[in-house]
Amino acid sequence: MAEGAQTLAGGDAPRSGDLKSTFNPQGVQAGSIDELDRDLQIGADKAQFPLYSSFGNDLLTRQAEIESNARTYPRKIPLALKRGRGIYVEDTEGRTFIDCLAGAGALALGHSHPVVIEAIQSALAEEPPLQILDLPTPLKDRFTRELFDSLPAAFQENYKIQFCGPSGADAVEAALKLVKTATGRRGLVSFSGAYHGMTHATLSLTGEPTPRRAVGGLGAEVQFLPFPSEYRCPFGIGGEASAAISARYIETLFDDPNSGVLTPAGMIIEVIQGEGGVIAAPDGWLRQLRDITKARGIPLIVDEVQTGLGRTGRLYAFEHAGIEPDVVVLSKAIGGGLPLSVVVYHRDLDQWKSGAHAGTFRGNQLAFATGAATISYVRQNSLDSHAAKMGERLMAGLRVIAEEHPCIGDVRGRGLMVGVEIVDGDATNAPAPDPAPTLAKTIQHECLRRGLILELGGRFGAVVRFLPPLIIAQDEIDAILERFGASVVAARRQ
Ligand SMILES: Cc1ncc(COP(=O)(O)O)c(C=O)c1O
Repeated sequence: MAEGAQTLAGGDAPRSGDLKSTFNPQGVQAGSIDELDRDLQIGADKAQFPLYSSFGNDLLTRQAEIESNARTYPRKIPLALKRGRGIYVEDTEGRTFIDCLAGAGALALGHSHPVVIEAIQSALAEEPPLQILDLPTPLKDRFTRELFDSLPAAFQENYKIQFCGPSGADAVEAALKLVKTATGRRGLVSFSGAYHGMTHATLSLTGEPTPRRAVGGLGAEVQFLPFPSEYRCPFGIGGEASAAISARYIETLFDDPNSGVLTPAGMIIEVIQGEGGVIAAPDGWLRQLRDITKARGIPLIVDEVQTGLGRTGRLYAFEHAGIEPDVVVLSKAIGGGLPLSVVVYHRDLDQWKSGAHAGTFRGNQLAFATGAATISYVRQNSLDSHAAKMGERLMAGLRVIAEEHPCIGDVRGRGLMVGVEIVDGDATNAPAPDPAPTLAKTIQHECLRRGLILELGGRFGAVVRFLPPLIIAQDEIDAILERFGASVVAARRQ
């Protein structure tokens, strides 16, 4: 076993590797955030974490030889994983890591959750046909009912569902076709910093420059609009004035016949931009967007692929603003870890024809089983409010760390969707110092050495992202903070 390694299986397993001891929803106490300052042993000698020294092995080498140059995660997180339980994963060297990537947000209940395992086993015991295109089955019916029960009341009566197959991007594709068909219009409105997937059409709605530049000639006619950001306000004013000016600008674009923007088939938005750098849309601004789009008959598509099912402290992120979107796109967490994606939309839009969005893998029975079980568990245990409390504690701890380190320019997020923007701490340029992507990468690597898996995102890849499973417990949040704090210290020394 590698130096400093803790495994999930043996007697040395971290206490939190045992799910049952990790999460007791009724007993969970968020703890006092004021206590954090005192309790947090940032970088202290007695801190309890490993220090792994080497990465890379035969599996990674063989992967690099045979797999596509487009592979992404193994380049920054060079681990070959063999096991996972709770918030922990174990690599083939037997080393344990806290997983704050959680399948890019797909694993709301973490790894090997008993509810998910049980759902798979009992579904298999019934010998269901594993794929059934879009035929109905009892498992699909249960999933549909659980999903609609988790949505606000208006959805039960007025909305329909399309099963897609099975990536988030495919569901976004379906949503675009839906609104284009219903409105007879062609153009779409998206926002700077948006991420909606990597297929040709979804890439045309996505801000990320590298994959866009590589393929050019993208599918849809898209108008990008500025997305408000408190830290890097696109209008240079920040605060409520920024949201107001943005709403006014959008209204003008739609109403000025010579603006160059034809009334679009739809507007697509993430309530919290994840890949864009964890930037939350102000609630009031979202309400304004809802009013503006409704008044002009423009369907509002909310992409909840990453935010959906409790991650942001509400079951669905649009609930923070109390808006009712026309279309909601869902994937990741709603499948309970297995691939599943859907579009839920207002009945008035249901004007497409049979076969308008077909696809082989729209009927994954095991995903229906794990999805239904996960939705039910999240609701019964109020994991949305738990995520809100744990997220507050995480952000409060990160702000304590930021006080010591000027390279942490901003700590932001909602619930357990949290980002830390790494900047040039010596810079004095206003309103925010330049992003520091190289330092962000070094911090990410130092975290990995201390057994903490984190992802980078945002402009220039300078935002360290925390996306842990929603079942995370308070002491595990503190463990993340200790490891992160020590990693920032180590990275700054380099
Ligand atoms: C908001 C959002 N939309 C769409 C997608 C695309 O989902 P997928 O990777 O499953 O195609 C993602 C993926 O991260 C996402 O975060």
